Amino acid sequence: MPVDVASLDHARALDAADPLASFRERFYLPEGKLYFDGNSLGLLSTDAEAAVLNALDQWKRLAIGGWMEAEPAWFTFGEELGRLAAPLVGAEADEVVVTGTTTVNLHNLTATFYRPEGERRGIIATGLDFPSDIYALQSQIRLKGGDPDRDLIIVPSRDGRTIEEDDLIAAMTNQVALAMLPSVLYRSGQLLDIARLSAAAHERGLLIGFDCAHSAGSVPHQFDRDDVDFAFWCNYKYLNAGPGSVGAIYVNRRHFGATPGLTGWWGYHKERQFDMRHTWEGAPGAGAWQISTNPLLSAAPVLGSLRMIGEAGFDRMREKSLAMTNYLISLLESSGLLDAPYHYRIGTPRDVRRRGGHVSVEHDAGPKIAKALKQLGVIPDFRPPDVVRLAPIPLYTSYADIWEVVQRLRQVIDTGLYLQMPEGRDLVS
Ligand SMILES: Cc1ncc(COP(=O)(O)O)c(C=O)c1O
Repeated sequence: MPVDVASLDHARALDAADPLASFRERFYLPEGKLYFDGNSLGLLSTDAEAAVLNALDQWKRLAIGGWMEAEPAWFTFGEELGRLAAPLVGAEADEVVVTGTTTVNLHNLTATFYRPEGERRGIIATGLDFPSDIYALQSQIRLKGGDPDRDLIIVPSRDGRTIEEDDLIAAMTNQVALAMLPSVLYRSGQLLDIARLSAAAHERGLLIGFDCAHSAGSVPHQFDRDDVDFAFWCNYKYLNAGPGSVGAIYVNRRHFGATPGLTGWWGYHKERQFDMRHTWEGAPGAGAWQISTNPLLSAAPVLGSLRMIGEAGFDRMREKSLAMTNYLISLLESSGLLDAPYHYRIGTPRDVRRRGGHVSVEHDAGPKIAKALKQLGVIPDFRPPDVVRLAPIPLYTSYADIWEVVQRLRQVIDTGLYLQMPEGRDLVS
């Protein structure tokens, strides 16, 4: 008998053959729900929980002694987490530090690497960027005496979903100082060609940095090989370190020794930090871009998460992530959900080389579809105007979960449930 690849039995067979399946038991899955929002807020693992409890215990037992005696020592916790995160982005240990938060790190890195000079005053961004990045870039331009209307060069999308690398490269003129781009677009999940863009930027004399909020922990990067100047990301999405947890910075070692745009004592050379001098001496690596004392309780979960990823193998995770997004897309197609009367559209590139970790499912009644899915126990998120984002996460989503979600996408339309939902999106969607 030929296998019916659209059947639940087939999904179960895929789960049975999945070498990462057992990691699911180490996560707190919301009871009775199909959680597909790990691209927005990753779930708590027992590993991350244990790391937080350990930090609390060390605080209880060691008090101030924890700065040096805790395991790992709090004084260099950001550097230690950076060492663990470095393989995820193809960096050396001292090029990554876990510190700050996404937008604050963007401010610090732009304050450092945006060096307008003469005619070269522009920053390239895209029309599909996450808004916080645009606000930060506008303010950094103002701080350097520029005019955001003139100096922020927004490369538009041709199709409303993706950005063409050709268009970004065409914008890299001698009037541009910096390209500040997303690695994966937050709405469509398009993955940009980082190697090609970095090479093009450097040939044209500009620096390039990437916001990797939607790729860190999902897409393996090769920042050193690709010669990226700098990058930053959060740890609360695919890295499962909890709401608002501390973020991360990568600085190519070529830039070591540059004075960070926003200096603070936590970036001082560690051996002399407590000399309390008023003259700046930055740490020799990416650690120099730290500003304040590491927030231990929000950094601790990163330790549990990164160790778990080390155990699972990041390449295997990416392989499973792509297999799962392929599976979701093929089920939507083979179940007829892209045709009448369903009319779902797939906004994510089909080419796996251009895809991050989620699938964007578009529908003209997007907000109502998202609400109806929630009523049926599916947790997606919604991004205006019409995108329901679904992220199968390799460490805790099963193929059977994906199969179920596709049934619910059908059900909300078959039953007319979505039509009963109120207009508009929720305050947090
Ligand atoms: C692509 C991207 N950049 C920046 C941010 C802002 O993050 P934060 O609130 O941690 O500064 C987000 C938040 O989701 C994001 O998705």
